Amino acid sequence: MTGTQSSQGGEVGTSGSATLPLNPQTERLCNKTSICSRSYFVVVMVFFHVYIINVIALLFYVHYSSGQEDDSRSRDAQNSDHSRVNSRDAPSKVEYQRDFSLPRIEGIRVGHVQKVSLTPGKEHLMRTLSMKPLLFEIPNFLSEDECQVVMQLAQLKGLMESQLMVQGDHEELVKELNLSPEEIFNLLDINQDGQLQQTEILTHSRVRDGIWLTPDTLTEIYAGLKADKNGDGLLSIEEFRLLSSDAFQRFLQQQGVKKSQLVRNSRHTWLYQGEGTHKVLQDIKKRVIKLTRLPPVLVDLSEPLQVVRYEEGGHYHAHHDSGPVYPETACTHTRLAANTSTPFETSCRYITVLFYLNSVEGGGETAFPVADNRTYDEVSLIQNDVDLLDTRRNCDKSNLRVKPTKGKAVFWYNYLSDGKGWVGEQDEYALHGGCVVTHGTKWVANKWINIDPDYQRQARYQQLVSQQLDNSDDDSSTVSYDTHSSNAHQDL
Ligand SMILES: *[C@@H]1O[C@H](CO)[C@@H](O)[C@H](O)[C@H]1NC(C)=O
Ligand SMILES: *[C@@H]1O[C@H](CO)[C@@H](O)[C@H](O)[C@H]1NC(C)=O
Repeated sequence: MTGTQSSQGGEVGTSGSATLPLNPQTERLCNKTSICSRSYFVVVMVFFHVYIINVIALLFYVHYSSGQEDDSRSRDAQNSDHSRVNSRDAPSKVEYQRDFSLPRIEGIRVGHVQKVSLTPGKEHLMRTLSMKPLLFEIPNFLSEDECQVVMQLAQLKGLMESQLMVQGDHEELVKELNLSPEEIFNLLDINQDGQLQQTEILTHSRVRDGIWLTPDTLTEIYAGLKADKNGDGLLSIEEFRLLSSDAFQRFLQQQGVKKSQLVRNSRHTWLYQGEGTHKVLQDIKKRVIKLTRLPPVLVDLSEPLQVVRYEEGGHYHAHHDSGPVYPETACTHTRLAANTSTPFETSCRYITVLFYLNSVEGGGETAFPVADNRTYDEVSLIQNDVDLLDTRRNCDKSNLRVKPTKGKAVFWYNYLSDGKGWVGEQDEYALHGGCVVTHGTKWVANKWINIDPDYQRQARYQQLVSQQLDNSDDDSSTVSYDTHSSNAHQDL
């Protein structure tokens, strides 16, 4: 009893004033003495001062932040005036002020778990799987029923072969580039020793006419075309000439191609997620918007949901979901707003969200061969005849593998930030593939979020789309045009 009382007295003494701790008896006695009322007065005064300081600080804060708001408001007004003037002259030359930053979720460190609220009354746990690429997993993102619905809708729509047998694009490319066999040989001969090792051929192109090349298939092809005359596994320039495009094609046709030799061996379909579609599909889209914290319009204007089915033996060798972007590269989704004459095009998939719709009995992991590797070097992907991109043989050598579990989602960024709040360079570490399914079937769905690294093109594209929607609604396009040019800012 006494102990607690005296310690309470001590606290009053230290926080209230500089008086010494009082012993319990004097404390009770001196309720009406001058010493006690003085310390009471001091305490009151201290609180009073703290209160006044708080009020002043609040006034300063209000004054300061409203000043900032005024600034930005007048800046916005200038912008919309500016774009309005321009848009009357020439709609294609509108300069969009970059006043929006793409949200990017922080990974903190591998193994970090954060709570995310995606559906009312439910919390999901999101775990960081790697920092390079920035990769997360969320168990139970989809319920069992939702997985079932998505698989059924895909079956209803019908799935098609993800890759046709032979694509014959190599010949076209060679003709277009107009290179002689000597020139190609020189390009392939990395160490310039006048001979082609198999790894030199594979480093340059893993894929020929849709066929995934391995040392084994190369040996088979050399034998079939009787190209490697002296059987040393190396090609001289004379031997290389025998491997002409025609000969290669003819060989493949004779031989027949097995599905396991293709880049990917699966079937897929696309499900739209707009208004009027199944509630589950719309719910998934809303959850993706919450998860990525992106403006809904960016998700709405992205590719539909892709549903993929791998049979036993199915695979997808490691690849990037989207390519590097150079100034002359166009994005598929914004082609509408770009100069279409460019020969380079990529899908500009800023984010990949991958959903596992079932738990696979054996295999079928998603492999990230170089996740969080210290360095990345394309040439090192094949070393000592081990090709890290080959998900039929070398998934066990990948830095990271995600097991397919029903309802789980993983998502990652295929591009880095440009440091100014927009899409930057491609993240080469985002390389990934589907390991071969050894038992059962594997069902997944992909949601890609397409954003053009060229801010102007993305903004112009969004404006064009909203204009088209407008024109189909009513014909007062000139009136609604102005309002939409400033809306495009906010949407972005
Ligand atoms: C597209 O390119 C042509 C010719 O290079 C040019 O005249 C035109 O202004 C360009 N259009 C846009 C929208 O940049
Ligand atoms: C992964 O990192 C190691 C160590 O830096 C490096 O030796 C290796 O070449 C890297 N792998 C690739 C594919 O770049």
